[in-house]
Amino acid sequence: MLIAGKHLQTIWFDESSESVKIIDQTRLPHTLEIVSLVSLADAATAISAMQVRGAPLIGVTAAYGLYLALREDPTVLEQSLQQLAATRPTAINLRWALERCQRHLQTLSPENRAAEALALARSMEREDIDVCSAIGDHSAELLDELWQTKKSTQDRLNVLTHCNAGALATVDWGTALAGIYKAVNRDIPIHVWVDETRPRNQGAALTCWELGQQDIAHTLIVDNAGGHLMRQGLVDVCLVGSDRTTSNGDVCNKIGTYLKALAAHDNRVPFYVALPMSTIDYSLASGDAIPIEERAGAEVSHVHGRNAEGVHTAVSIAPVGTAVSNPGFDVTPARLISGLITERGVCAANSEALAALRLTSSNAT
Ligand code: MRU
Repeated sequence: MLIAGKHLQTIWFDESSESVKIIDQTRLPHTLEIVSLVSLADAATAISAMQVRGAPLIGVTAAYGLYLALREDPTVLEQSLQQLAATRPTAINLRWALERCQRHLQTLSPENRAAEALALARSMEREDIDVCSAIGDHSAELLDELWQTKKSTQDRLNVLTHCNAGALATVDWGTALAGIYKAVNRDIPIHVWVDETRPRNQGAALTCWELGQQDIAHTLIVDNAGGHLMRQGLVDVCLVGSDRTTSNGDVCNKIGTYLKALAAHDNRVPFYVALPMSTIDYSLASGDAIPIEERAGAEVSHVHGRNAEGVHTAVSIAPVGTAVSNPGFDVTPARLISGLITERGVCAANSEALAALRLTSSNAT
């Protein structure tokens, strides 16, 4: 990801300070702040407070968190795994990353664990970049095909996205946005409709910031505008990410994704989901079994932003004491999804295609 023209990842290990560096996403878009994680508690807080967020990035941060725990005390493997696993419930990448670390580290003697945990976290970081880049290549191919069918009648390809499934949600490139970056590199004139994504406004704060840094044309819309734009023929394709995809092709993503898929279906707008294989939970038969994170009511009753004096602040938008429900994710049934874009290629959102995909080998790693 280019930030002010310089390449920056969302997470990396800094040799000189022996700390894990992250971009604090709670400060964006107004302040770019790099924060150091030096302990298990720092990493767990970074995930639960959403200084880092997005399914793939949560997984890599958890792997680094385990390293930070084991360098303090190499005997705390099991409790550290549990502490990190408890930070956020919906994105399966967290569990995937921790189980991978556990399998590797539990067979080692304690004195070797910290060094191996660091090596594993660093390789997961690199792997995530390769995987997202490959997802981007497959998505760009698809966007190119779509553009070829549209370019005689319009001057841009309109993509609608929800939440932030960009470089900020991964180590680099992103999932849904990777295809947009790669399509723009192929000179496809992309314009992105960005859902604001209440309550935390990841679209407004993060996706708009990220696309702006990359100089990609985009327009911020309220979450309820998508259906209206689709009816007007102003959306050519929807492209979103996933926090967990079940073996039948159901997709769990940021709250509001389902409504976009319904509107897309009604308007015959293709609806694609970009995701790494690590986001697929083959152990679940359908999205009904996915635990949906319920977050604090204050995220709904208040809005965060920067005031005219430049101070980060929250303002209340509901009567004091109003009952609030705040589910963080919803499930989009497979029948509403045109295709799943993974590092191994594009497949249909159904059990047969996903089972076949599992048997293919990745050309990303
Ligand atoms: O609550 P968040 O901000 O972690 O939710 C993120 C999303 O819903 C993303 O769309 C998803 O993680 C896919 S990211 C590549």
